[in-house]
Amino acid sequence: MAQIFFGRFVHSVSLKELEICEHGGIGVDERGKIVFVERNVKDVQVLLEKPGWENAKVVRIFANSFMFPGFIDTHIHASQYPNAGIFGSSTLLDWLNTYTFPLESKFQELDVARTVYNRVVSRTLANGTTTASYYATIHVPSTNLLADICLARGQRAFVGRVCMDQNAPDYYRDETVDEVISATRQCIDHIKKIDPEHQLVTPIITPRFAPSCTRQCLDRLGELHKETNLPVQTHISENKGEIQFVKELFPDSTSYADVYEKSGLLTEKMILAHAVHLTEDEKALIKKRDAKISHCPASNTALTSGTAKVRQLVDAGITVSLGTDVSGGFSASILESARQAIWVSRFVAMEGGDDNKLSVAEVLYLATRGGAKTVGLEDQIGGFEVGKDWDVQMINLGEVDEGSEGIKDYTSPVDIFGWESQDNVVAKWLYSGDDRNVVAVWVKGKLVHTTSRYSL
Ligand code: GUN
Ligand code: FE
Repeated sequence: MAQIFFGRFVHSVSLKELEICEHGGIGVDERGKIVFVERNVKDVQVLLEKPGWENAKVVRIFANSFMFPGFIDTHIHASQYPNAGIFGSSTLLDWLNTYTFPLESKFQELDVARTVYNRVVSRTLANGTTTASYYATIHVPSTNLLADICLARGQRAFVGRVCMDQNAPDYYRDETVDEVISATRQCIDHIKKIDPEHQLVTPIITPRFAPSCTRQCLDRLGELHKETNLPVQTHISENKGEIQFVKELFPDSTSYADVYEKSGLLTEKMILAHAVHLTEDEKALIKKRDAKISHCPASNTALTSGTAKVRQLVDAGITVSLGTDVSGGFSASILESARQAIWVSRFVAMEGGDDNKLSVAEVLYLATRGGAKTVGLEDQIGGFEVGKDWDVQMINLGEVDEGSEGIKDYTSPVDIFGWESQDNVVAKWLYSGDDRNVVAVWVKGKLVHTTSRYSL
């Protein structure tokens, strides 16, 4: 059914600028596509008089609320969700062996996958994530189950079967390169079967990272990428020990980025997570190939990997987006990643100058438009324009409910003195909001998450 969303909307119009439209009216057709975006609409009746819109369902945005594009998490390990918050004082390579490989190996059991993947999709949707680029594990059946769950729950997703044929424990790795390719193909075929046009779920080729893949494995995945034109995701330059290890493993490559380049993987369809310690040459190469970066600030701090210099990456013309990197990152919320991105940029600024500070508008751009570009869907998601899909969260600020359960206040109080600018309102959401502010979430026009405070 066609729908008209009536009320305040907020979205990024450029890296540095948010549009805050007080009286918006947005028409969404049966396919979930935006057909009109009107501003300064005083009365929704005017929109209902448009030819063909007489019977549209009107969704009124609550008081103290706004529509915001759904978040795009460009790097999350669905299988690691049970370990969110468990990392001790480890760093990347010992964290993988101590916490991560033992957990991921459990996804041999389909019941484990069913429980965890349902939970992770619930949690990300509840946090306003309408698109996620997931790593599963090496197991084909449970990876396919993740794809099934995303499709059934209505979350837009990229689902990757993890590939690793070296430097992983015997109990959890691919034996041969042929196995890597045939397992990856099985996952690609499954997703083609359940969602033939990849309207919602798309396979993504997933070499875990250079240290866990032989050159032959990377080459074959590069060929598969060329053959299928499917996107690719991996990690790059996260930790200094890891970078040293890559140098030793790939002596013929001039840099970490060059390892991927030499296998034909570094293309505009590649998502590179972390990119904390890139050299100038690597930045230039990544820019030249138009590969995209997923900034994972919470994880980089948790595993003491370092501080990614986002301002430099953006100034170099590289597309940057945000990832939660669960469970290197402890939270499945992109709002939390956005906050952490600002925080990390403050630490970079204290050493390297004020220009490094990211603003509220900038991190919200990375969380939406940057994410859309990173997953190759900038024409389809990330903002409110005619032709885009309705992938949206309704944010309710500081709802005060003085009912039987006492006063519930989901952010700091909303403008009790009447002196706050619209920008202040968005900043308060960013700094003090959480999943309780997300009252409804739509993907392709379909309601996929609500709280009890939202009724149809
Ligand atoms: N590098 C290789 N595997 C991983 C992983 O699972 N998480 C993070 N943060 N880095 C990695
Ligand atoms: Fe990761």
